[in-house]
Amino acid sequence: MKTIGVIGTGNMGADHARRLSGKVSGARVATVFDVDQARAGEVARSIGATAVARAQDVIDHPEVDAVVIATPGETHAELTMAAIGAGKPVLCEKPLAPTTAECLQVLKAEQSCGKHLVQVGFMRRFDHGYQEVKSVVEGGDIGDVLIVHCLHRNPTVPPSFTSDMSLTDSVVHEIDVARWLSGEEIVSTSVVPVRRSPLAAPGLRDPQLVLLESSSGVVVDVEVFVNARYAYDVRCEVVGSLGVASLETPTVSAVRRDGMSRSVVPDNWRTRFGGAYLAELQAWVDGLEAGSADGPSAWDGYAATAVAESCLRSLESGERTRVELVDKPAFYN
Ligand code: NAI
Repeated sequence: MKTIGVIGTGNMGADHARRLSGKVSGARVATVFDVDQARAGEVARSIGATAVARAQDVIDHPEVDAVVIATPGETHAELTMAAIGAGKPVLCEKPLAPTTAECLQVLKAEQSCGKHLVQVGFMRRFDHGYQEVKSVVEGGDIGDVLIVHCLHRNPTVPPSFTSDMSLTDSVVHEIDVARWLSGEEIVSTSVVPVRRSPLAAPGLRDPQLVLLESSSGVVVDVEVFVNARYAYDVRCEVVGSLGVASLETPTVSAVRRDGMSRSVVPDNWRTRFGGAYLAELQAWVDGLEAGSADGPSAWDGYAATAVAESCLRSLESGERTRVELVDKPAFYN
């Protein structure tokens, strides 16, 4: 049995804490911390854990074997390095950090401690549909991968959501998927101007079309549209030299009536990827037990942030932008 501490008990942290307490086998949550003490107390009570006074108290707690970090992105690097400093494995929600400079500090800390302790919360790698697409690609059934078409649509976003966040919070998932599916780094990005939806908040560029180019020339196009209204819809189609592999949206039922068939599309990311979050946590806990981890690494977190930073430069300049990556340390091979 692994004992987990959770830092940040907002939407994701509370969901993770509840899954780890009730659904993931071989795990329990002993302590939680949130700067919002009322929220931490409520989550702690609901799962029989204790709310502590500081993040460091979670990390240093003698019973805690590993830590989940689900605070806002700008706090991730510092908290992750504190967990590394204590020699404790950490599942850090995406992004590993909002800037590559901070990500590189995390890579340095992890390498200095000599152990792979960090997993980043790119949960799509644990989604059954994405895993099937990857296994088709790797099995060679569709030949050489040439193009990947992705859609990322949300019904709406809060007024605080910005054009940059479409890239750093939403497209970052497609960035990770593109790297994972192709097994290659992304070397350039372009953000193509698109006519604005009249339903987008003032100042928000929505939709956006993003092009990512991999080292061998695979092109990934991503439509990100956060005011799509009708549902939460994520799609992915890999075009190969011999065929196409596409992600199907999981549905549980369909109604056929009046000469038509209607099926349900999930209305939010929690419904769509609930299974993936659970599988991600189970794999992480199993890896802790086995002493081996093969989820998205700190390097994957750094590379995704580097591509997102390049997208931000493309958004600003309107030009195709090179991704700046340091050489991959052998530690991450
Ligand atoms: P949220 O705003 O619901 O929760 C964040 C919580 O962190 C709040 O309760 C806040 O009080 C707390 N907090 C802020 N600073 C803190 C600090 N220094 N120490 C401790 N607690 C602190 O945000 P949400 O949606 O839960 O997002 C959290 C993280 O999860 C973000 O990094 C976000 O990008 C990521 N996320 C990942 C998703 C995925 O699909 N993998 C989906 C949604 C969010």
